[in-house]
Amino acid sequence: MFISVIGSGYVGTTIAACFAEIGHDVVNVDIDEDIVATINAGEAPIHEDRLPELVAAHAGEDGTGRLQATTDYKAVLDTEVTFLCLPTPQHDDGSIDLSIMEAGAEQLGSTLEAKADRHTVVVKSTVIPGSTADVIGPAIESTSGKAIGEEISIGMNPEFLREGTAVHDFLDPDKVVLGADDDHALADMHTVFDPLVERTDAPVVETDTKTAEMIKYANNGFLAAKVSLINDIANICKEFGIDSYEVADAMGLDDRIGAKFLRSGLGWGGSCFPKDTNAIINAAREAEYEPEMLASAVSVNDLQPKRLLSLMDDHADVDGKRVAVLGLAFKPGTDDVRNSRAIDVIEGLQDRGATVVAYDPVAAENMRAHFPDIEYADSAAEALVDAGAAVVATGWDEFAALDAEFDEMASPIVVDGRRVVERRDGITYEGLTW
Ligand code: UGA
Repeated sequence: MFISVIGSGYVGTTIAACFAEIGHDVVNVDIDEDIVATINAGEAPIHEDRLPELVAAHAGEDGTGRLQATTDYKAVLDTEVTFLCLPTPQHDDGSIDLSIMEAGAEQLGSTLEAKADRHTVVVKSTVIPGSTADVIGPAIESTSGKAIGEEISIGMNPEFLREGTAVHDFLDPDKVVLGADDDHALADMHTVFDPLVERTDAPVVETDTKTAEMIKYANNGFLAAKVSLINDIANICKEFGIDSYEVADAMGLDDRIGAKFLRSGLGWGGSCFPKDTNAIINAAREAEYEPEMLASAVSVNDLQPKRLLSLMDDHADVDGKRVAVLGLAFKPGTDDVRNSRAIDVIEGLQDRGATVVAYDPVAAENMRAHFPDIEYADSAAEALVDAGAAVVATGWDEFAALDAEFDEMASPIVVDGRRVVERRDGITYEGLTW
């Protein structure tokens, strides 16, 4: 099948390369000329495991030719299905901002005006239930002069791609959700995903667009709440002097609970959980339902950095002292610092008058935009020299190997928000929830 993918962010680029990998011809459309040139040179425009290999395999001079990129929307005219992968940021009040999606849908519609054959548009971005049918479809209709459900079919196919393992998550999915309000859209989405389903045996969920939209929010909301619930339980464990990880390991043996997403600590960040929980809470409130559990999940998450700082206060007054912050990314394996818990930790340290020395193996450059004036060390060892305390904010494996490096601290107090540093003689170790 010939597929167009609009948007070259982490979702758009990943699915474009993965569609090529499973045998489709793909054109990725983006307004950014540099991103387009990068893909056409056979290189990945974003930092994502396995993506460089896939882009090199299918784009550029040595590629199969199945993946191309362009800034020209007219490229969609030769394709049968278009996936919309544009950003859905949030307004200041936490509600979803659909303006980029709407503008993209209008541009797509005006392009499709010239298309003689039927075309299917699939919304991939995370959008509040009802958006595909009530906002994006009408936007396409308004500029194409064509009717949704007749000349243009529309579907919704939520993504469940984690940053850092997005290629793996696409190529070996737990499920494929196909939301469609007409048979043509459903049939086209099946043609797109059949090669993947055949080789992985992934379960396929067929539903309408509104339910597909909700499945995405339910998925992310549930996982965010699962982490907040284990954090709540783990905070109780800490008060009782119990190792919450031992408790979580035992809980995870119960099939009804499952072992994943039971790592307690500083909580969740990133570009998805915070945005999606806020958006669905906001939408629920607009519908005059108060989502108590999801709202509590957010509150617990907001409190974890404060708890960590208060544990540090029990050991040291950091006013005027150097404090090492180890880890800046919102999770290991990415350079993304959006909504990273490290941001709250650094702000709390600055409020206490500390001089922050931060280290992250890949995310320091991105954190400079938030904190241009703090010191960035080239290694964890360098950050620890002369520090009056150290805080672990991201669970990078390399921090587990730290040992003699702590001897260089002015005062070897380590408050670990991710249970990664080993307790050892010679340091005062405090785990956030253990
Ligand atoms: C998340 C979902 O896992 C994906 O399925 C979804 O497609 C994606 O959002 C999205 O909506 O685009 P991601 O934000 O990349 O993916 O990150 P996760 O690996 O899910 O981790 C989220 C946060 O939870 C991280 O800050 C992580 O440190 C934290 N976490 C996760 C914990 O604190 N404990 C755990 O046990 C697991």
